[in-house]
Amino acid sequence: MNIAVRLKSVTKSFNGVKVLDNIDLEVCRNDYLLLLGPNGAGKTTLLKIIMNVLKPDKGTVEVYCKRISCVFQEPRLLPWKTALDNVALPLIARGMSKGKARKIAGEWLHKVGLQGYENYYPRQLSSGQQQRVAIARAFAIEPDLLLLDEPTSNLDPENKRYVMKLIKKLLNEFKTTVIHVTHDPLEALNLATRIAYISYDHKLQVYDRSEAGKVLRSCGLTGVSYMKAIDQLEAHRFITASESPPLIIKNIHEGKS
Ligand SMILES: Nc1ncnc2c1ncn2[C@@H]1O[C@H](COP(=O)(O)OP(=O)(O)OP(=O)(O)O)[C@@H](O)[C@H]1O
Ligand SMILES: [Mg+2]
Repeated sequence: MNIAVRLKSVTKSFNGVKVLDNIDLEVCRNDYLLLLGPNGAGKTTLLKIIMNVLKPDKGTVEVYCKRISCVFQEPRLLPWKTALDNVALPLIARGMSKGKARKIAGEWLHKVGLQGYENYYPRQLSSGQQQRVAIARAFAIEPDLLLLDEPTSNLDPENKRYVMKLIKKLLNEFKTTVIHVTHDPLEALNLATRIAYISYDHKLQVYDRSEAGKVLRSCGLTGVSYMKAIDQLEAHRFITASESPPLIIKNIHEGKS
């Protein structure tokens, strides 16, 4: 099995309050893991541990990826840089020349439909456009792990659909491993290869696609939305694991045990 992320017995508390309780998780290359759960369950904390921004109190974290991108709820663009320079920044930070980075950034802005907006500053862009810049920035480094933390939750319904369609289109062209946190399982159910659910008691359960009905019921999806979800599951447009690149052991960090 070609593992991208492996967590074993990960536990995390803040000020003595447990927010992740003995989490075991394996994410394979090219998996699309949909991560669900109520507010405060620990989803963002889990992503931060995978990004090595936070250390677990106990357990081990193995991340076999060297280019990790994240798209958050809010775009998090640098206000003093143009759209083009915001996208170019992570490329330059990785050692690419400014000229080449700006060229690639321009291509990605084009792919997210923002050609002509290269020299706009974030304050001159709508929230939806800013989020598209953030998506271009995330894809520009060609991530081998893409973390999506509610990337559409601040957008109106039309932009929500547009941004999810865009992410799906880009993932069709550029397959990668994805962990996607959302409160709306319907928005990406057709991509999900597996579904994880963190419950109020901060424990994680991972379900196979075939068990999606169970997890949708735990999210309180019933009636029409439930039927819509099941329809989507049947629509079967999801990423299949393709030939994976060799493992790159780059970023193994261990919590105190
Ligand atoms: N740096 C921190 N210091 C103290 N407590 C924190 C910190 N970060 C998170 N928490 C707490 O950990 C719990 C889980 O937070 P987290 O942001 O992971 O939840 P979440 O599942 O992402 O919720 P949401 O769906 O609302 O985004 C919350 O109770 C939060 O207050
Ligand atoms: Mg969160």
